[in-house]
Amino acid sequence: MEAVGHRPYNLVAELTYRCPLRCTYCSNPVSFRSVPDALDGEAWSGAFREAAALGVVHVGLTGGEPTLHPDLAEIVAGAAGAGLFVHLVTAGTTLDRDRLAALRERGLRSVQLSIQDARAAESDAVAGTRAFERKLAFARDAAALDLPLTLNVVLHRGNLDRTDELIELGRRLGAQRLELANVQYHGFALANRAALLPTAEQLERAAGAVARARTAGDGPEILFVLPDYYADRPKPCMGGWGRRILVMTPEGLVLPCHAAAEIPGLEFFRYPEHALRECWESAPGIAAFRGDDWMREPCRSCPERSRDLGGCRCQAFQLTGDPAATDPACALAPDHAIVLDARARAARPAEALYRGDSRAKRPPLSNPRRDS
Ligand code: SF4
Ligand code: FES
Repeated sequence: MEAVGHRPYNLVAELTYRCPLRCTYCSNPVSFRSVPDALDGEAWSGAFREAAALGVVHVGLTGGEPTLHPDLAEIVAGAAGAGLFVHLVTAGTTLDRDRLAALRERGLRSVQLSIQDARAAESDAVAGTRAFERKLAFARDAAALDLPLTLNVVLHRGNLDRTDELIELGRRLGAQRLELANVQYHGFALANRAALLPTAEQLERAAGAVARARTAGDGPEILFVLPDYYADRPKPCMGGWGRRILVMTPEGLVLPCHAAAEIPGLEFFRYPEHALRECWESAPGIAAFRGDDWMREPCRSCPERSRDLGGCRCQAFQLTGDPAATDPACALAPDHAIVLDARARAARPAEALYRGDSRAKRPPLSNPRRDS
């Protein structure tokens, strides 16, 4: 499928996979330590100029922990100089107010702070380190500098029952937006799925808390979407493969999403060996699932395919071993039993491994048709 008509508007710039936190649901590749920080400030700035020429208007500086990149100030200035809206996604433990102010001076426009729970001990237990109080200080610094703040909380079995408290925390910190993002099962999160997947009852209670807060209308704007595993239909992951969002990894690989490099056999191009336009328009890996020519039944003749755009190719691969399979999150998928089976186990206690734990690996494929 040609890239014609697929103009990206958002660049997700993963500056480094290094991070002082060790969250059990981290979506970085399990092998993150082998990915070098290959791009310096000058190279990132070049990528931003080329991205702007492609149509990109927004860049999210993320990771890992992007503030650990030694050229962060130059990177922010490079993105702003290219005319992009510059958004920083951080765990909030590495920047003091002066450094944050300096980034604002260079063109930083908004920040997203991740918090693991509404309570210090529970939050630090998920992060694998003491970080909660520092995060609150970061939120206060952002408010003092008038930087719009999004609070991002990854929801899972361990914190969903405190959704009320999370909303209250967002209100107290003066967040403009609260993203209550149910875990996506990639990277370490997939390895820890047995410990993270919530029950349907927990999700229902959380949805009730969100509805009450929205009705009250006195807090941050709340984003809350039912997770794939309980929705019976997949979401259009990344707004569709290779359509609107491009991801650059710390080594410069240009991907349609943060997990695509884990799919064997797909060839992606690396910047700056290839121009960004070539990475986006001509890499065989990005072309592989652009559009809908690749779809098989039941998707091929399904009226919903233009809404979900085939769901998540990485999830299809991770759960079935076949990236072209119908996303098992879909109740019409031949492999939907994999998701039903995981749901049935959602109430059982299980141990979660921290990011970086060498015992973390993908759960064995549970599709009997492909396991043999
Ligand atoms: Fe979407 Fe395919 Fe399921 Fe139809 S069958 S709803 S196109 S994933
Ligand atoms: Fe890769 Fe969904 S994360 S397509």
